[in-house]
Amino acid sequence: MTEIRTPRLLLRRWHDDDLAPMADINADPQVMRWIDDGSVRDLDDTAEAIERWEEEWDEEGFGLFAVELLASGELAGFTGLSVPDFLPELGPAAVAISWRLGSQFWGQGYGAEAAQATLEFALQDRGLDRVISISRVGDDASENVIRKLGMVLERETTHPVYGFPLRVHTIDLTEYQA
Ligand SMILES: CC(C)(COP(=O)(O)OP(=O)(O)OC[C@H]1O[C@@H](n2cnc3c(N)ncnc32)[C@H](O)[C@@H]1OP(=O)(O)O)[C@@H](O)C(=O)NCCC(=O)NCCS
Repeated sequence: MTEIRTPRLLLRRWHDDDLAPMADINADPQVMRWIDDGSVRDLDDTAEAIERWEEEWDEEGFGLFAVELLASGELAGFTGLSVPDFLPELGPAAVAISWRLGSQFWGQGYGAEAAQATLEFALQDRGLDRVISISRVGDDASENVIRKLGMVLERETTHPVYGFPLRVHTIDLTEYQA
């Protein structure tokens, strides 16, 4: 069982009772503003997504962690790793870090705390050579997390489906340990 504890968070695999709180997060337009075309997801979409995320864990040995607050047991959202198939120019070996927290959990440093633990898991525990992040230009909250992780800008590109500008940041183990 893959679990990580940080000072305030438990990063873990998904449970059945995560569906309702994750669906609430996915239904919030404020949360989804910078994700794909900004459209919200419903309960069925979220159930399918959680099923897919769990399959990715089984297939890849990494995936998206459910992020739980240690103090209350509430589901705050996710951080984790996935293969960014939608951007083939990055090559088949690319692994991206991403995050999504309910808006009531923003502004308390949870995003960076969960992302830092995820990055350590990727580079040290799983032995990945490098981790990238893909963010939409304008998503300042994500860029703030990216900066705190020490990731550097590798390229600017365009979303192949939606056409909006994207930034790709990267970090490898040497840079991470520096
Ligand atoms: C991106 C996202 C995860 C950021 O989450 P977050 O928890 O608010 O981000 P941070 O961890 O950077 O914390 C933000 C602020 O909390 C504040 N904070 C409050 N208490 C804190 C604490 N104990 N420790 C650290 N920071 C704290 C800080 O001011 C910090 O900002 P600063 O680093 O500029 O000082 C969140 O906005 C989100 O889920 N967005 C929607 C989903 C999304 O767009 N995902 C990206 C698609 S790729």
